[in-house]
Amino acid sequence: MSSTLSHNIKPLRPAAPNPGFGAEVTAIDLRAIDDAGFETIRQAWIDHQFLLFRGQSLTDHDLIAFSRRFGELDHAPVQENGQRFVPGLPEIYIVSNVIQDGAAIGSLGAGEAVWHTDMSYLPKPPKASMLYALEIPPSGGDTSFCDMYAAFDSLPDNLRARATGRRVKHDGTYNSGGYIRQGVTPADDPREAPGALHPLVCIHPESGRRMLYLGRRRMAWIEGMDLPESAAFLDELWAYATEPALCFTHRWRVGDLVLWDNRCTMHRRDPFDATARRIMHRTQIKGAAPPAA
Ligand code: OGA
Ligand code: MN
Repeated sequence: MSSTLSHNIKPLRPAAPNPGFGAEVTAIDLRAIDDAGFETIRQAWIDHQFLLFRGQSLTDHDLIAFSRRFGELDHAPVQENGQRFVPGLPEIYIVSNVIQDGAAIGSLGAGEAVWHTDMSYLPKPPKASMLYALEIPPSGGDTSFCDMYAAFDSLPDNLRARATGRRVKHDGTYNSGGYIRQGVTPADDPREAPGALHPLVCIHPESGRRMLYLGRRRMAWIEGMDLPESAAFLDELWAYATEPALCFTHRWRVGDLVLWDNRCTMHRRDPFDATARRIMHRTQIKGAAPPAA
């Protein structure tokens, strides 16, 4: 793919208040991009925060090869069924409700997956994730994205001042499907739960822009606050972060690949009919550094 690729980058929501959030890259085969084409994609991913590529036909090895162009990969996270990955390919995390021979082939079931950032309970979360659609239910299972730069920008001055300089605890007990990660004993007190503390307001290492960094709501805690004060403050911040006018909902087709910047977005998934099949393969690209203020 040549340098003309930049003409193929189309914002998904040009009329939104945050019009740069999300873009589709059209007429591209991710198996056949040259270095200049890759650099255009990499820059578009920084500029637009998430990118949609439709009509791909990728093997797991193709998915890994494209992912590795962004850097070293993290292994699939531990989920409710342990670590479900493609046999022999621990980099590929399977998101699926499909049961085969009595065992779940993947994670997150068919219920709602609540707003979250991937693996932010780790000291160094992945900088990006990409999800590739192999099987899609006839309806439901849409994935939404929210814009954590716009969330920060939309905060009133008093909330911005209150958030700046704080750290938030990112819980490692529950995944976004509400399931307990295998091997974790749940505690009711977020201060004692496994997880990492990260700044609540971070500076993106590549764009230099400020963003809110929330991770997930359940069992979150703002360091130095008592639990009711922390909960009330988090609820206020979350209302800004998930303001529908600043979010985008993606309806999947088989062959779609969505790549997101895991530092400056969050995502969630709608539930779908549990008797339908949904199979997605995901990779996650290692972060270069912990989130920083
Ligand atoms: C993920 C995730 C939601 C979905 O893969 O990180 O949250 O739509 N998936 O499958
Ligand atoms: Mn996720």
